[in-house]
Amino acid sequence: MSRDSFGSRFGALVAMAGSAVGLGNLWRFPYLVGENGGAAFIIVYIILSFLICLPIFISEFVIGRRSQKNAYAAFRDLSGGSGWRWVGLFTIIVPLVVLSYYSVIGGWSIDYLLKSCTFSFTGASGVNTMFTDLVTSTWAPLLAHTGFLLVTTLIVVVGIKDGIEKFSKVMMPLLFFIVIGIAIYSLTLEGAQKGIEYLFNPDFSKINAKACAAALGQAFFSLSLGFGTIMTYASYVDKKENIMFQSTATAVSDLMFAMIAGVAIMPAVFAFGLNPQSGPGLVFETLPLVFGQMPAGSLVAILFFLALLVAALTSSISMLEVAVAYLVEEKKFSRIAACIVLFIICWVIGAVCSLSFGPLSHIEIDGGNLFDFFDNLSSNILMTLGSLLTVLFVGWRLKKTDVYDEFTNGGTLSRNAKLFGVLWFLIRFVCPLAIIAIFVSGLIG
Ligand code: PHE
Repeated sequence: MSRDSFGSRFGALVAMAGSAVGLGNLWRFPYLVGENGGAAFIIVYIILSFLICLPIFISEFVIGRRSQKNAYAAFRDLSGGSGWRWVGLFTIIVPLVVLSYYSVIGGWSIDYLLKSCTFSFTGASGVNTMFTDLVTSTWAPLLAHTGFLLVTTLIVVVGIKDGIEKFSKVMMPLLFFIVIGIAIYSLTLEGAQKGIEYLFNPDFSKINAKACAAALGQAFFSLSLGFGTIMTYASYVDKKENIMFQSTATAVSDLMFAMIAGVAIMPAVFAFGLNPQSGPGLVFETLPLVFGQMPAGSLVAILFFLALLVAALTSSISMLEVAVAYLVEEKKFSRIAACIVLFIICWVIGAVCSLSFGPLSHIEIDGGNLFDFFDNLSSNILMTLGSLLTVLFVGWRLKKTDVYDEFTNGGTLSRNAKLFGVLWFLIRFVCPLAIIAIFVSGLIG
């Protein structure tokens, strides 16, 4: 049976951009900017995205497209059957953990979308405690998590071209127009100016080791790195496509979405005199207060939570596909059986995360609940480790001529050929050293 693949350049591009653009852009990026002092954090983030993360992205692309296999087989075959395949297995297991708690947040977006459709944010009473009420309850978030995971699984069951690609082709343009529309509206609000200043006036005194580590972790998360996702998607990309172009286009769209999300959120938060530093609650606690006061707020709320849901779905399908590809190709599962098994595993872990705000909140690890534990562990530690191992693999285990061959399509792309020297240096030396330095100083600082 021939392997499924993306049907067009645009399809491959929107699927990759769909994986990258997600809760990381609309939920995490704005609150991290809020917590870490605005524009200076954004500048550090942009530098790290292009200097460190883009070469890692390209490394994953090379692994996936050269092997045309799932992440486990890619590491195994490209290394000639050595222990590197365990790194492949690692990059398959980690996204499952992330998908589990990601689905819980995706579920919150469903709940909030329904709430906005019933105009629940107007008439301020109850809005303040709405988020706490939701997450500490048992059934509502569990049901929403189930719904989110089910939709994710159904899209993946259909396959690459007909499921993932088609869904992304429709949803990504929709997402783009919604977020741009909200950003423009937000800029017209009285008092929006302060939000813009906050986003674009750098205060470098806020930049310390911890902020750099947070920026790097966020860039990994936002570009779906260290997880086998880009590798797996790349394995479905045609050999004629230009890796440099596809990778840069994904990184640029991801950054653009994060910035537009910032512009959609911050001016509105400032216009209504609310606090941008409310952390993870920014989108679910602060924004509903904004929507409650803003003219046409109910409509904006519906569009915003729809965007959040769509962005989350185009990312969650990419996480699930990593393990589906593995089970189908290595363990000879049918696609549907693989999806069912993975649905059950992720549902259980996700349910534990969901309940960790309510009935299971007494279980604490390192001062936080199980949800925080999984989020911290995977996005700060496991992703960093996955990304580090990936660049080391490409830079030090693969043959330079093979990487060159894949990156330049057999020497036919002359611009890529010219860039290769710089890329190779970044992959071999700059990326690994920078990852280690920033990670260690973030731990100490
Ligand atoms: N990049 C996605 C986001 O920003 C999250 C993600 C991480 C997706 C890892 C796939 C793999 O929300």
